[in-house]
Amino acid sequence: MTIPYRDPSPIDGPVGADLWERADRALPGGGVYFTRSADMSGRGVLPGFIAANDGCRVTDVDGREYIDFLGANGPNILGYRHPEVEAAADDMRSRITTASLFPPSLVEVVERLLQTWSTMGWGLVAKSGSEVVTLGGRVARQHTQRPSLVAFEHSYHGNDPELASGPPTGPLTTLTDDVIRLPWNDPQRLIDYFEIHGADIAGIILNPLDQRPLVQTTEPTAEFLAAIEQVRERWGALVVLDDVRHGFRLHPSGSHRQLGIEPDLIALGKALGNGHSISALLGTEELRTAARKIMFTSTYMFVAPPMAAAAAMALVLPNLPRRPRLCRVGVTNESPRILSARPVVPPDTEVRTAMPRPTIAAVKTTQSTVTAPSSSRLKFCANLNSFICSSNFRLLSSILLTGPSLPTRLFGLPLWMTL
Ligand SMILES: Cc1ncc(COP(=O)(O)O)c(C=O)c1O
Repeated sequence: MTIPYRDPSPIDGPVGADLWERADRALPGGGVYFTRSADMSGRGVLPGFIAANDGCRVTDVDGREYIDFLGANGPNILGYRHPEVEAAADDMRSRITTASLFPPSLVEVVERLLQTWSTMGWGLVAKSGSEVVTLGGRVARQHTQRPSLVAFEHSYHGNDPELASGPPTGPLTTLTDDVIRLPWNDPQRLIDYFEIHGADIAGIILNPLDQRPLVQTTEPTAEFLAAIEQVRERWGALVVLDDVRHGFRLHPSGSHRQLGIEPDLIALGKALGNGHSISALLGTEELRTAARKIMFTSTYMFVAPPMAAAAAMALVLPNLPRRPRLCRVGVTNESPRILSARPVVPPDTEVRTAMPRPTIAAVKTTQSTVTAPSSSRLKFCANLNSFICSSNFRLLSSILLTGPSLPTRLFGLPLWMTL
């Protein structure tokens, strides 16, 4: 039986509406794609089907152009289809797609990462952030020979059911028994927990910042970071930094530099390939033996163009003349700690509840022309999107440089939920 998600939305034109009809029949629906599912940000909130993207702009299947504040949930730090990144990927694609054994670019991309992340001794490349965060937990368990991991309440670490940020539905609830969720920024709870269970904890998985739907982003306090250091020292738990989301955005060589910690394992993804499917796990030399013992392979692990894209991204990003500006919006690299501010909702923003779950703020999209973003909107977007899209140089600069009238619409404010 077909269950339509919602009534057709004026945001989608006839082609989009038709695709929704077909999607209702062809896909399982529901919340499968989470923040990007039809349930949360689909029909009625965002244009459902994107036909093309370039820089900060996207065009939907009905030919309407938007400025995209969502940035595909974070990978496009340089904007969609950055010319140098695409040229590198295309060049590689003209010679090799995937391989039976190692493409040379596998070694090159890991070497390049190790040059930048100089405390790390080895690296592995995969396709998604989820894979490498999960692998980080496995390496920590293998090295310590302990079963449990500590993570923090509500933190998102990808699609592995064991690391699900909420209780998984269905019969697999016991899967999460070995991942203990403790409150963020509660040093005493962490210390107390380790006093009782420390001998069982292989690693602490943490995001550089705590970002939850509809809640202000919070940096870890100095006391909290000190507690992590303390239990790590006393109990030998490894620190696994999930830098999938923030990587390349808080600091050019790792968000931990901004926090002042030295992780044992670092997971990278998203911005690493600027839109190409690549992720990486980096580990200290001490963990090499443990990493060697873990079987971690997949058919498309050796697809070379994303590796070339990552190598190009790594060259482009540090040399962006306006990178400091990029960093100033939402976060400042010059600051020893991270600045985060409460979002300011601009007056021309309407709040819509798309589904009972999250509240979604969406800029009115019924007009074909919207006023150029005011500073409050920019601030709003920057804060909402502080670490994904406002760090998107082409996106921001395009907005800042656009004249008083944008022949575009704006979308992407549900990214609020995704941060
Ligand atoms: C902090 C964090 N870790 C892991 C992941 C999972 O990465 P991927 O979606 O590439 O599997 C995400 C994705 O949003 C993330 O934000």
